[in-house]
Order: sequence, then C-alpha cells, then structure tokens
Amino acid sequence: MPGSFAVRPIDATFGAVISGLKLATIDDATLAELKKSWLDYGLLVFPGQFLSRDEQIAFAKRLGPLEFEMAALSNVKEDGTLRQEKDNDDRMKVLKGNMGWHMDSTYMPIQAKGAVFSAEEVPTIGGHTGFCDMRAAYDALDEATRAKCEGHAAYHSLHYSQSKVGHDSKKKADGEYSGYGFHDGPVPLRPLVKTHPETGRKNLVIGRHAHNIPGMDRQESEQFLQELVDFATGDPRRVYHHDWRAGDAVLWDNRRLMHRATPWDYTQRRIMWHTRLAGDPASESALPQAAQ
Ligand SMILES: [Fe+2]
Repeated sequence: MPGSFAVRPIDATFGAVISGLKLATIDDATLAELKKSWLDYGLLVFPGQFLSRDEQIAFAKRLGPLEFEMAALSNVKEDGTLRQEKDNDDRMKVLKGNMGWHMDSTYMPIQAKGAVFSAEEVPTIGGHTGFCDMRAAYDALDEATRAKCEGHAAYHSLHYSQSKVGHDSKKKADGEYSGYGFHDGPVPLRPLVKTHPETGRKNLVIGRHAHNIPGMDRQESEQFLQELVDFATGDPRRVYHHDWRAGDAVLWDNRRLMHRATPWDYTQRRIMWHTRLAGDPASESALPQAAQ
C-alpha cells in the first residue's frame, strides 16, 4: 500500500485513478511506488496535473529513455485556426487512423514501452481515449484460440493501417508527426502473444497495424486478427474510455494495453500532448528476419 498517494481502481480489469501527488515534483521513493502501480494497473490517470510540456518530458524521462519527447495530437493548426474534417489532410487522417484499436510503435523495430499523455484543451463532448486490457483478453481466450495465437506472428505496418483510412503514406507528409512511423526498413514481425518483460504475464499483441500472418492467406489472416480485436474489446470489463478534463495526464503500459481515440465535434478545439517511452530492445524488438 503506497503511503504517499491514493489509488482508486477503475471498475475494469485494469486502471486506477491516482490522487495526492504532483507528477512535476514527485520524489524518487514515490516514483518507485508509482512504477509498481503502473505495472499492476496498466493505466494510471492523474487528474488536475496541468503539466507544462517541459515538466511532462522531464517526468517521462524519469521512467526511462524516450522514443520521442513530444507530439501534439490536435485539430488546432499552428496559426490557431481549426483543421476542418472535410479538409481530410494527412494530420486528420492520422487522427482518424488512431481511432482504430492499436498499440504504439508496433510498426517500428522496437515497440514502445508506454506513454505519458495529457490534455491541454478538451471538447465538451467526445474525444475520449479508449483503453483495452490485452492481458485479460489473453487470459479469457479459449484453449484452442490461445494455442492458435501462440503459434503465429503478424507483420505490423503504419503504411498498412493508414492505407485503410485513405492515407497515402508514400506521398510527402505535411507535418513531422504525420510522417512519423512510415519507416521503410523490414516490416516488423511480432508474435501474437508476448510475455511482458516486467510482469511475466502474457499479452495479445494485435491491433490495426497487424496484418499478413505468415502461414495464413490474407483473408484468413485479416479475419482472425479482426476476431481477436472484437473478442478483446467485446467485454466491457476489459475496456475503459477516459473522458478528459483539461489538466489530466495519464500513463499507460503499451506492452499490455491497446488504445484508441474517439471522434469529437471538430468545430471545438482539442489539444493533447503525447510523450512516448522507448521499449527495451531486449524485450520489445521485432522478431529477427532474413533481409528483405
Ligand atoms: Fe496511439
């Protein structure tokens, strides 16, 4: 039982709301307790933090190396005007793509460990972020499906997932983040079941970037992967959607949870900040492959 902050579990198989601490000034002993809660719950929600961007980066760095420091997920353009849904530009396509369930950076050579995500401005309705417990989903599979998963892997690609929302990734992207992840090296191949390096528990690794399971034809692969996502997200006990307030921050374990964005009224401003924690190459690397 941590002595220096309060933990209120969310009514789901994962997740907790943390109060009684300030992430910007947390001491080392409290941080160590917080890391344990992060591994136990997979998702920690911190209301009312109002982190500056520098404070968010500094806090995230205390959890380990970063994959990148800060990306804005927003419908507000640099000039302050609002991105229109009908514009359907690359950034809007990235926002739309993120509305499919996924884990971050499974399309990179090293899957992300997690993320710190915070809300600066939020719309009055919608714009929730969904999370799904892929450890509980694995545990709930029937034995035959579990065995089928154990024996297979899938390729993960942002080219693949964005092409499904009409984003031509070969075209020059219109911004730094919208171009991130379209890497042109070998397409990472990842087992459908992965043991979490710190909890030792098994998790399903699937989501919108996964495709082309070796040993299955394309249609069979697509159908199986969709069935797994539908199964995982089909039990409300395994899903939580966070209804953001300005100043909220969350920390999630990307080795355990899938997540997704949800639509909002795009005539309202939404500004979110994402800091991505780098995965450990020893445990988050894709499977070795022959040169392609
Ligand atoms: Fe994401």
